[in-house]
Amino acid sequence: MKVTVVGAGAVGASCAEYIAIKNFASEVVLVDIKEGYAEGKAMDLMQTASLNGFDTKITGTTGDYAKTAGSHIAVITSGIPRKPGMTREELIGINAGIVKMVSSSLIEHSPNVILIVVSNPMDTMTYLVHKTTGLPKNRIIGMGGALDSARFKYRLAEAMEAPISDIDGMVIGGHSDKGMVPLTSHATRNSIRVSEFLSTERLEQVAADTKVGGATLTGLLGTSAWYAPGAAVSALVQAIACDQKKMFPCSTFLEGEYGLNDICIGVPVILGKNGIEQIVDIPLSDAEKAKMQESAEGVSKTNGLLEL
Ligand code: 2OP
Repeated sequence: MKVTVVGAGAVGASCAEYIAIKNFASEVVLVDIKEGYAEGKAMDLMQTASLNGFDTKITGTTGDYAKTAGSHIAVITSGIPRKPGMTREELIGINAGIVKMVSSSLIEHSPNVILIVVSNPMDTMTYLVHKTTGLPKNRIIGMGGALDSARFKYRLAEAMEAPISDIDGMVIGGHSDKGMVPLTSHATRNSIRVSEFLSTERLEQVAADTKVGGATLTGLLGTSAWYAPGAAVSALVQAIACDQKKMFPCSTFLEGEYGLNDICIGVPVILGKNGIEQIVDIPLSDAEKAKMQESAEGVSKTNGLLEL
């Protein structure tokens, strides 16, 4: 199983590291445009192999997509990250051009590849890949909800002073500060609804903190976060590579599901060897439906900025 990760910045490198540590892929190819950068990250990571006990071979290349040939899965993290005070949407101009070029280069060398889009604004970049590559929709996956759900579980565990392994919960909708829809009414602690443990006000605070999860880290770090994004991508890659049929919220092209059309936005999907194998259309409360509708309007507005 060969996996390519485009962009050897913090998110790409941490994604490659988690994939390697989990030891399910035979090969990870890191690609970057900065001369020698991907090669350097790959060498540094390979020098952790004997210490961390993995056999995955990690190599790097400066923009030579021929080296990515035959990839089963490719992750696109390239583009500029946001700086403190910026929204993900403000990155659209530069990142759209990069994502278009990267996706077509990947497909040229790996026609059967499954693409995972991480570059921001992620839902719009996923839509762009859908509109410009002609790949079937099951092979285009936007990574946002898996990360936002991990942040939601972190905040829920913190509020309940509970171990994170007790918590289950999901965030759907757009991967943006305003667009995320944390499903607080569905979240549980060992199958008991979290509303049994937390007041409505505290749950609202958890949801609010979840939605600005990325922005909070950007404020603290001066750039976008990387550990949780890298771990979230590696979980999606593993679900596909190992045909796990696991459910994650991912951005996918909708054709009527959740009452939405012609949009890529986060909804629960089943991931297996074919990429998105099923879209899980769960019933939402009226309030959640309204939030999802509002979120979709925001994503569509950003999509409108694309030059397709
Ligand atoms: C984040 O939320 C990178 O968009 C990503 O941290």
